[in-house]
Amino acid sequence: MNSPLDTICQTKHYFNDSFRSDILEGLQSNPKKLSSKYFYDKTGDRLFQQIMAMPEYYLTNCELDIFKNKTEAIIKTITYSNEPFDLIELGAGDAMKSTYLLKSLVDKGVDFTYMPIDISGNILSVLNEKLSKEIPTLDILSLEGEYFNMLDKATYLSKRRKIVLFLGGNIGNMEVDEAYHFCHEVKRKLNPGDLFFIGFDLKKNPSTILAAYNDALGITAEFNLNLLHRINRELDADFNVKNFQHYQTYDPISGACRSYLVSLTKQNVNIGHDIIKFEENELIDMEISQKFSESDIKRMAKESGFHILNEIKDSKNWFVDSIWQIV
Ligand code: AVJ
Repeated sequence: MNSPLDTICQTKHYFNDSFRSDILEGLQSNPKKLSSKYFYDKTGDRLFQQIMAMPEYYLTNCELDIFKNKTEAIIKTITYSNEPFDLIELGAGDAMKSTYLLKSLVDKGVDFTYMPIDISGNILSVLNEKLSKEIPTLDILSLEGEYFNMLDKATYLSKRRKIVLFLGGNIGNMEVDEAYHFCHEVKRKLNPGDLFFIGFDLKKNPSTILAAYNDALGITAEFNLNLLHRINRELDADFNVKNFQHYQTYDPISGACRSYLVSLTKQNVNIGHDIIKFEENELIDMEISQKFSESDIKRMAKESGFHILNEIKDSKNWFVDSIWQIV
């Protein structure tokens, strides 16, 4: 396989560190807010892997069902043109789902380079190690950083047809208006014929959704609280994490599933030289995991300049991988 990227094989560090300023800005806002993109340090990566293994967290199994059992349909859609391509994965993580696709593509002798992008350098090293064992002939170029910066980098490095994968319902971590803007930006960075492959978690029985984010063992709670531990570790802060409680909501009308941390007492927290004051029961807005209807998805594709090539659902019809092409 000959790709212009063959020679660059190690993880690149392009991560722009705005952690401290983002955290302070969020905690000085009203209501207080922390970005869920910062959940993923080493402990956060491990907790998220535990979440994916929980019985309540159906998303991973649904999308795994698609990637395991509908691989042929996926490959047929993405190789509609026989030209070699670059497969760019936003928020690749441990690539549990896409590994099935990568294996089939390599087995079929398809000419492509895999370019995983993730904010966690830790998970990218785990991924590189796993892929070099499982698919030794795969061309891989990993990029550590935020979606837009690394997508710019990837589209700059890539000289071929591009397929952008955005799986797992990661798009749900954006507010709906941000998601529209995001899709529009992705469209601007791609060329006619390129594909955008997005996983959407569908609206379904609200109790099923709430249970996935409000698990009995409290792993999701720990996942949220870990960001306070991370701030303590990395920003010289003194959150007393026991004084905060995870609270989860799901609104079946809007499809917004939201997590908060509640301050259990009136308290002050030092972050370096800054002091953050909390009232009793004051909230920190932590994460949105937006759920979509099929018409929500159609509208989003259309308004951001894409045309839907194919939609592949799991056997329960709970999750959809929607494959979009630039019009
Ligand atoms: C990684 C964004 C898909 O929102 O479902 C899981 C993260 N948060 N449990 C999601 C998450 C709480 C997850 N995504």
